[in-house]
Amino acid sequence: MAGALSVPTLTLNDGTAFPAVGLGTYKLNGDDGTTAVKCALDTGYRLLDTALNYTNEGAVGRAVRESDVPRGEILVTSKLPGRHHGYDETLASFEETRANLGLDHVDLYLIHWPLPRIDKYVESFRAFKKLQDEGLVTSIGVSNFTEAHLRRVIDETGVVPAVNQVELHPYFPQAALRGVHEALGIVTESWSPIGKQSELLTEKVITDIAAAHSVTPTQVVVRWHVQLGAVPLPKSGDAGRQRENLDVFGFELTQAEVTAISGLERGRLWDGDPETHEEF
Ligand SMILES: NC(=O)c1ccc[n+]([C@@H]2O[C@H](COP(=O)([O-])OP(=O)(O)OC[C@H]3O[C@@H](n4cnc5c(N)ncnc54)[C@H](OP(=O)(O)O)[C@@H]3O)[C@@H](O)[C@H]2O)c1
Repeated sequence: MAGALSVPTLTLNDGTAFPAVGLGTYKLNGDDGTTAVKCALDTGYRLLDTALNYTNEGAVGRAVRESDVPRGEILVTSKLPGRHHGYDETLASFEETRANLGLDHVDLYLIHWPLPRIDKYVESFRAFKKLQDEGLVTSIGVSNFTEAHLRRVIDETGVVPAVNQVELHPYFPQAALRGVHEALGIVTESWSPIGKQSELLTEKVITDIAAAHSVTPTQVVVRWHVQLGAVPLPKSGDAGRQRENLDVFGFELTQAEVTAISGLERGRLWDGDPETHEEF
């Protein structure tokens, strides 16, 4: 077996060293999911992204516990579902997550969607701060938050989320929101970073750049995220594709190439508008 790849880190606003690429785990469930996540850890992934709503925290936690990689080198992310928004509900939901994972702490905990109609995300973030103060969560952040949601959380709790995990890929580069994150000191994570089985990886702009660097289209897209300063979370259950997706630190795109890839902008993959999308 080839050795583990080494991944550079960014620094979160709470001082945490944070891998520049992580593993998406949606659909990695059961024994196969555990095997796939262990394989990813062997490959060099150190940041894992799960959620209560993926119903695979058990599979991911087991992989972390059984892996030869020390727990202290792995960052486990999970997310609070919409049905558990509210202060006490959040604390209870976190205990469910922690039990599912079978881990004593969670490295990064995110509010999965803001659900502005329900209007409880500020209360949930206050509960996140308590979990952080108690040492049960190392870093606290959000997902699918707009600038307005971020500013409200910051104004009302005095705490700047460490991360905002949002839809981000060449079809939806999110330049404005990335600018807001940079100004506020929030790290951007990219979900569906390689376009989730869309035609993205066959776009001529990308295949031409891949040929020019003797890499694959997916590697071009993952590298594009890295050069934007965003942390992509490509999901793969396949050992070869996991390695391919992480092996992006041996080449560099030119600024013109980065700009050309961003020129594929056309919008969201589906109607995941944080102002209206509700997931419970
Ligand atoms: N916060 C949120 O609301 C939110 C929303 C969506 C997703 N997420 C997170 O983001 C992660 C990634 O997003 P995603 O799963 O939607 O999409 P994605 O990572 O953009 O794409 C995953 C798909 O691409 C395939 N793939 C992976 N590597 C490939 C390669 N090198 N070449 C060709 N195909 C490849 C995978 O198949 P194989 O597995 O067969 O390789 C899978 O079908 C999720 O798993 C989840 O952790 C978060």
